[in-house]
Amino acid sequence: MYLGLDLGTSGLRALLVDGAGVPVDSVSESYATANPHAGWSEQDPAVWVAAVDKVLTQMAAQHPGEMAAVQGIGVSGHMHGAVCLDAAGSVLRPCILWNDTRSFSEAAALDGTDQVRALSGNIVFPGFTAPKLAWMAAHEPELFERVATVLLPAGYMNHHLTGELFADMSDSAGTSWLDVGARDWSEVLLGAGGMTRGQMPRLVEGSEVGGTLRPDLAQKWGMKGTVSVVGGAGDNAASACGVGAMKEGEGFVSLGTSGVLLTGRDGYAPLPESAVHTFCHAVPGQWYQMGVILAATDSLNWLSRVTGASPADLSRELGEEITGPARLRFLPYLSGERTPHNDARVRGGFLNIEQATDRRAMTQAVMEGVAFALADCALALEKTGADLRSLLAIGGGTASSYWVQTIATVLGKPLDLPAAGDFGAALGAARLAMVGCGAGSVDEIMVKPEVRATVQPVAELKEAYAEAFAAYRASYPAIRDLA
Ligand code: XUL
Repeated sequence: MYLGLDLGTSGLRALLVDGAGVPVDSVSESYATANPHAGWSEQDPAVWVAAVDKVLTQMAAQHPGEMAAVQGIGVSGHMHGAVCLDAAGSVLRPCILWNDTRSFSEAAALDGTDQVRALSGNIVFPGFTAPKLAWMAAHEPELFERVATVLLPAGYMNHHLTGELFADMSDSAGTSWLDVGARDWSEVLLGAGGMTRGQMPRLVEGSEVGGTLRPDLAQKWGMKGTVSVVGGAGDNAASACGVGAMKEGEGFVSLGTSGVLLTGRDGYAPLPESAVHTFCHAVPGQWYQMGVILAATDSLNWLSRVTGASPADLSRELGEEITGPARLRFLPYLSGERTPHNDARVRGGFLNIEQATDRRAMTQAVMEGVAFALADCALALEKTGADLRSLLAIGGGTASSYWVQTIATVLGKPLDLPAAGDFGAALGAARLAMVGCGAGSVDEIMVKPEVRATVQPVAELKEAYAEAFAAYRASYPAIRDLA
């Protein structure tokens, strides 16, 4: 038996899988994000510790026999967050999250520093980890002075579980401190932000054992033998492991809080100026590339908050089938945008509001805006030579067939929907534990899920959506300086 823990932005899920990687049960606990100032997004790591204890205590009560047989644990975490520990191992301040944009000027300064893009393979986005520490150096110097170790959320969970300081390559690639081609911390990158290798955790591959579960925790959760904890992964790499998107041409589109278009790469082919992210994969010798938009289901959630209708009710009003693009246009830049604009200051908007505009039209425009933003990511990815030949559609937003059909038509590509429950990152994390414990090779374990349906682009509407996409693309340059 193996456990995958998915430390997500809105909650933590534990997934128990059997020796063949088949899900047995999953238990989740949600938590909140604090936004104490505009553009800030923080979580107290103590909340994650309480959540993991709650879900695994419940799992032990529900499945005592299976929990006793757990051999390995893998952790997936939301990426880029900075958890700062002092020399005694205490957390110095709340974790600054991936969608926190306070450090945009520090990010721009680091991004303009010699060799930073060349070594890290990426733009230094404000959400990444290095600019967060640069922000602390400028605004919280007394805390910055006391930073002995910086861990990402998954690394902090690994530390809680094992007492050791280790992190996997895929998550570490999102710090702007890693030489992503060489899969090692870079003295040049660390030095650019006033950091040192001594403040970094030990690097391991995601599928490599980094430590063993603390005996007190093993006992509390009813585990009998030695339990290995592998490096784990950042959530996007973990999701890729969960759906078998490992190699060239194997990819997915994810409609979660953020939106992601990801594809596996057999080599390292960065193209930072495209605002595509190029990161190590969670297994040795592989990389992946992705375009990231900051508000996918978050855009629909926003509309839900202002209209008072649930996202499910909003979706239902649209029906199942698309009939052509709306004239109303939505730009989903609610927290700024990463791919392809790298613009932390731009904000979203509706264009072409008219007397007839109602809630249904707004929902349609929101879904189309997200689809167009993902199509922008596809254009950026294709510039790197990435092949988007096979794509699965995953994440909460795929519950809307209307939305998936819109994306398929705008991308001009069929999208496969997985058959079983969408265990995504938690399943990927469990699979990393399986590989680490010797249950099989990467090829044997990271397989594609069974496909329940393939959503085809609607051929006769392709032209209409292509015109609407062109109008969408013309909107960003027109509004970017208006805020
Ligand atoms: C990726 C990113 C997000 C978070 C969401 O670069 O910032 O997808 O990982 O959890």
